[in-house]
Amino acid sequence: MKSKYNVKMISENFGKYKYNEIEKYVELGGFIGLKVALEKGKQYVIDELKISGLRGRGGAAFPTWQKWKGGLNELDEETFVICNADEGEPATFKDRELLLQDPYKIIEGLIVSGYMRSAKTGAIYLREEYTYMKYKLELALELSRKNGYLGKNILGTDFNFDIKIFSGAGAYICGEGSALIESMEGKVGKPRLKPPRIGSKGYLQMPTQSNNVESLAVVTTILKIGASEYAKYGYKDSIGTKLISICGNVNKPGVYEIPFGITLREIIENISNGVEDNKKVKFLQLGGVSGPLVPESLLDTRYTYEDLWDLDLGIGSGAILVADEDMSVIEYIKLANNFFHHESCGKCIPCREGVHVYKKIIDKLINKTAKKTDIDYLVEIGTIMTETSFCGLGQTAATPILKAVKYFKEELYAATID
Ligand SMILES: Cc1cc2nc3c(=O)[nH]c(=O)nc-3n(C[C@H](O)[C@H](O)[C@H](O)COP(=O)(O)O)c2cc1C
Ligand code: SF4
Repeated sequence: MKSKYNVKMISENFGKYKYNEIEKYVELGGFIGLKVALEKGKQYVIDELKISGLRGRGGAAFPTWQKWKGGLNELDEETFVICNADEGEPATFKDRELLLQDPYKIIEGLIVSGYMRSAKTGAIYLREEYTYMKYKLELALELSRKNGYLGKNILGTDFNFDIKIFSGAGAYICGEGSALIESMEGKVGKPRLKPPRIGSKGYLQMPTQSNNVESLAVVTTILKIGASEYAKYGYKDSIGTKLISICGNVNKPGVYEIPFGITLREIIENISNGVEDNKKVKFLQLGGVSGPLVPESLLDTRYTYEDLWDLDLGIGSGAILVADEDMSVIEYIKLANNFFHHESCGKCIPCREGVHVYKKIIDKLINKTAKKTDIDYLVEIGTIMTETSFCGLGQTAATPILKAVKYFKEELYAATID
């Protein structure tokens, strides 16, 4: 049944075919997007992406058409494309669903990405914990080759392209574009100094275009149904739909496709069927553990990039973790910081030392030995981490804690001795 909360564009094929059923994917309209791209050309793809307003769904929300327009300039050197399927952000599990339920849509999107960059090869960088899917994806790639969608002269054109799968290294930092490439090259996954960006010197020094799983799924969908059809959903500049993963204290956790523009409250009440045991929401965390805490008072905010940015919040990966009234903010930020303490790669001082000092202060709050000045210290250190860390991990690690101080200061103060 169609409702304003239940949209099926990116997730249109969920539950409709299995890995070894490429013919069913084709019956469902599969590979139409690729055909459209090959027939209408690169400029058409860029124009469609522009109309669709697609922003990268990996978290940084960079407009995809801007990233992809570099493909209009043919380069003399060999290029490479990547599907980032590392999905290491806690509470985020929407890419897993796409890979499991519609693998050919991702493969199709990566082929289009390869076409746009005139690449000969692409890679799916698959989260280590998703290794159980690897043989299924290998099978889907093999069937794509046999049916003329991968390999030489794709769909009778002079475009030759193939895809390999790389296993992730089991570290959160390896989802960051340059660390991912270091790990693909067999090195320790640590971020590279930029510039040069991976767009000009990426995998094996080739210009490299890397996209999130969902971004590629949206590209395939847009090329199949047309950007103006996709743009029928959404709100103002946040066009179309988003796959979200809801978890925490809700009655119906899971992955859902929602139109941009409904409110956070509608998402909790109408999509995840409210909070368990009829309890009240205390806060949400948006976009995974590196995202902001959002207090109950802001639940009537629309889920759009712009409405959330206006409040210094963000969509991030699309995760929504719901914490009920019984959740202790201090216990929660302890868990969040433990994650970063474990995952910081140690390359730069603000992140490596910041998460360590945070751990000490949070332990003091838990043991009720902290002073109010320690709360000021959380802000001071968090600001330094955010402004001076070498990569996105350290730049966002303090986000939940800074928001905890902003929205739950009284609760933190109540745990101090002065
Ligand atoms: C620490 C860290 C982890 C990241 N993990 C992922 C990830 O698992 N998957 C992903 O698509 N992007 C991840 N990103 C974002 C990527 O660096 C990049 O912005 C994104 O993959 C680009 O694709 P998009 O434009 O399609 O979003 C991560 C970034 C950082 C800083
Ligand atoms: S910010 Fe953290 S993860 Fe990134 S380079 Fe510095 S230490 Fe490593």
